[in-house]
Amino acid sequence: MTLRVGILGAGHMGRTHAEVLARDGRVRITGVADADDGRARQLADGLGATAHRDLETLLKAGLDLLVVTTPNRFHAEASLAALERGVAVLCEKPMATSLPDARTVCEAAGRPGASYVVAHNRRHAPVYRHVRGLLREGFAPLLASFRMHEGDYRTPPWVSDRAVSGGFLYENLVHFFDLMEWLVAPISEVTCLARGPLYDDLNDFVIAAAFADGAVGALTATGHSTWTPPAESAELVGDHATIIVEGLDRVRHASGNGAPIRVKDCSGLPREERWGYLDQDREVIEALCAGGSHCFSARRALRTLEIAEACAQAAREGRAVRLAAPPVD
Ligand SMILES: NC(=O)c1ccc[n+]([C@@H]2O[C@H](COP(=O)([O-])OP(=O)(O)OC[C@H]3O[C@@H](n4cnc5c(N)ncnc54)[C@H](O)[C@@H]3O)[C@@H](O)[C@H]2O)c1
Repeated sequence: MTLRVGILGAGHMGRTHAEVLARDGRVRITGVADADDGRARQLADGLGATAHRDLETLLKAGLDLLVVTTPNRFHAEASLAALERGVAVLCEKPMATSLPDARTVCEAAGRPGASYVVAHNRRHAPVYRHVRGLLREGFAPLLASFRMHEGDYRTPPWVSDRAVSGGFLYENLVHFFDLMEWLVAPISEVTCLARGPLYDDLNDFVIAAAFADGAVGALTATGHSTWTPPAESAELVGDHATIIVEGLDRVRHASGNGAPIRVKDCSGLPREERWGYLDQDREVIEALCAGGSHCFSARRALRTLEIAEACAQAAREGRAVRLAAPPVD
């Protein structure tokens, strides 16, 4: 079985997914569309695919899977158009730039026969998979600290335009809201300080979270740092034991009682593997070929936006905001 795949948005992530998918023998990338003709043609030519002027013509040509890698504002509309035609969707995060749009997509994704997944690549990154293994072995986090200090708020330029990206909470922190719940426990309450130095939109966040199992955590995030590694990190603290995740490169695990620190080093892996793109896209293809399910449901993607909105509300109103329990996977 060969799956016909189309790429919508031939920028940085369009190229990344195309390069990963083109290596999969079950895939043929048949079309590429981009608002910029030149970009569509350049990527399509390199793949032996057809360049299309827009989503409509890309879908009309016939697809099994649409990969949505446009700026965020177009994610919901493109996903819905594909799902309505019975085409499976792999959409970059966030699933939408508003909660109502996200709910509409979630509903469409839940219809019989629909296949939809949002690219939360960190779930497939070897460092975070390793942490999940340590949790399965019995490590129980009591305090969790996440940090995302990156320099990306001007690259590409649309990222700092809230009308296009949905803002920093939607564009970037959704990854960490998902990780917090995946690695610790459901978030039951958030408080949040938010500031907007250097840009019109808020881009400095200090978020405190209470987890449903009694653990507590924090996320500090900014978009005007540099990419000096590790631009992101996580630290889980248990009963005199620690797990430290340094970027997507390395995990250090100190189990306490004088035991030696165990290190999982992923820094030598190729980028597409280290960042989880390879396994993520392979799982999507496997699910389509064999009828399996994705590890990341539409309802989960919606949950990341619900947490983002709770943080925005907490910052606006200067108070703690409670969250309902998340979906059970
Ligand atoms: N998961 C990750 O690690 C990760 C990393 C970076 C970006 N992203 C996400 O990937 C998506 C794309 O980001 P990027 O960095 O590739 O951006 P980009 O600006 O490099 O590429 C976007 C492309 O979409 C095209 N485009 C704009 N409007 C369009 C439209 N209406 N129809 C078709 N094409 C259109 C642009 O011309 C451009 O070529 C974003 O949603 C972003 O949040 C994810």
